[in-house]
Amino acid sequence: MDFVNVADLGHDGLAEVLDLAAEVKTNRASVAGSRKGLRVGLFFEKPSTRTRVSCEVATTDLGMVPFVLKQDEVGLGKREAVEDVGRVLDRYLDVLAFRVFDHQNLVALADNAEAPVINLLCDLEHPCQALADLQTVAEHRPLAGATVAFIGDGNNVCNSLMIAGTMMGTNINVASPAGNEPTEAMLATARAGATGGAEIMVTNDPAAAVAGADAVYTDVWASMGQEDEAAARKAKFEPFQVNSELFEQAADDAIFMHCLPAHRGDEVTDAVADHARSRIFDQAENRMHAFKALLLYLTRD
Ligand code: CP
Ligand code: NVA
Repeated sequence: MDFVNVADLGHDGLAEVLDLAAEVKTNRASVAGSRKGLRVGLFFEKPSTRTRVSCEVATTDLGMVPFVLKQDEVGLGKREAVEDVGRVLDRYLDVLAFRVFDHQNLVALADNAEAPVINLLCDLEHPCQALADLQTVAEHRPLAGATVAFIGDGNNVCNSLMIAGTMMGTNINVASPAGNEPTEAMLATARAGATGGAEIMVTNDPAAAVAGADAVYTDVWASMGQEDEAAARKAKFEPFQVNSELFEQAADDAIFMHCLPAHRGDEVTDAVADHARSRIFDQAENRMHAFKALLLYLTRD
């Protein structure tokens, strides 16, 4: 089975991976070396710190062998057709994990490899991030009935959080500038998979999204590959900054979340990023536990 879209796990699979992530965090030694000898490809078409290192550490903790590949050497879709890269790597490796620009390349890889294909971020989704995000929310309060406010661009991180969150019964309030809301297709996927009456609010008003929320989440205004749009986006997204005034409108015990890297002073102020209730580094740590749980799940007998 592949993990190209966060919904690929289904409700029960997602619940199992999240339980496993909590378990391996508490008892790291319990699964050490338990997948000895399996080989994992980790491919990056874009920069990465957390994903690259957390996935490499999770892999080696399980006794698996990571092979890190970069676009400048592989030339995915340039030096070689995406389909052929999938067919070739499938002959060597037991898991193929890819960070790419175009979601369709993940679909092509999955269609041409028997090994599980994992999405390490693309234009549409960041499903491994969503696993760590939900693990972090669950450490604060039960997912069912919780409300997470996502403030910013309705793209990859928002999409996976929205779909995975509602699958687990978490309400998601999204506040984006007009034109940067999640697409109707992504909203439809999220609504179709929602459990426990979880609801999605989409608004252009950050205060409306944050009011009473259990967690406030933001992401960069210009994603990787959108650097030339940064100035125009900054002007458009300025009213969506998560600062103390906005954060104070959430629940009294609300946590702050960010997938990182953060552009401090843009989408979040230092006061919020470094707040006593900021959980951004727990989130980053959870990337490792969540990826380990995912690997265990995808390579089980
Ligand atoms: N959150 C995240 O995916 O970080 P990196 O881009 O550093 O991997
Ligand atoms: N939306 C951001 C997430 C980085 C982890 C990007 O795609 O660059």
